[in-house]
Amino acid sequence: NAPTGMLLSVEKIKFLLNQFKGLVILDEAYIDFADENSSCLNLIKIYPNLIVLRTLSKSYSLCGIRLGYCFASKDIISVLDKIKDSYNIDTITQLIAEEGLKDRAYFNINLEKVKRTRTRLENELVNLGFKVYGMNANFLLCKPENGLEAKDIYDYLVDQNIFIRYFNQKRLADKLRISIGTEKEIDILLTHLNKLVSEREMPFEPNF
Ligand SMILES: Cc1ncc(COP(=O)(O)O)c(C=O)c1O
Repeated sequence: NAPTGMLLSVEKIKFLLNQFKGLVILDEAYIDFADENSSCLNLIKIYPNLIVLRTLSKSYSLCGIRLGYCFASKDIISVLDKIKDSYNIDTITQLIAEEGLKDRAYFNINLEKVKRTRTRLENELVNLGFKVYGMNANFLLCKPENGLEAKDIYDYLVDQNIFIRYFNQKRLADKLRISIGTEKEIDILLTHLNKLVSEREMPFEPNF
């Protein structure tokens, strides 16, 4: 789930599929970052009303080609085929996607890098007094519990040219979403967060 990074278990999704006879569309955009065996792809063989969506924008680092795709029963796919735009995805995008899907070594190295940085960021955030939510995507949703306000942290980081996400919405306005960048980017973020937190913790010194 975006933006929580939390994962619905296969069991819960099965429960949903058993109750609901209409189409169930499951967005697995971030599934490669989640625990193993949390995908519901295999369920399309059992539930003819299930569509599973994926994208090459996240774990394949190919957001530049904007290619999404779906899995479903033959019946659903043939209906989708009938109603889709008559123009197909362009040839260059197809070639890049094919290469991306084939290169498992590059994919695995990248995925492990993101997961490692995610764990490091999670630990650092906890140490800085943040509550961290789900660990199933290439971002972390966190809530400052160290006396700082999410919006103030966001504004401070923007002033330093660091852009994370702040959602001025019910149940999210006290939280921040941080995408997992490179190690270097996370270093810079953490330097500024540490500075902000330590300034906040500095005892008041009267100015006589
Ligand atoms: C939950 C979720 N699904 C799907 C997408 C789609 O990504 P894209 O349009 O790049 O394929 C995103 C992108 O941010 C997302 O957050």
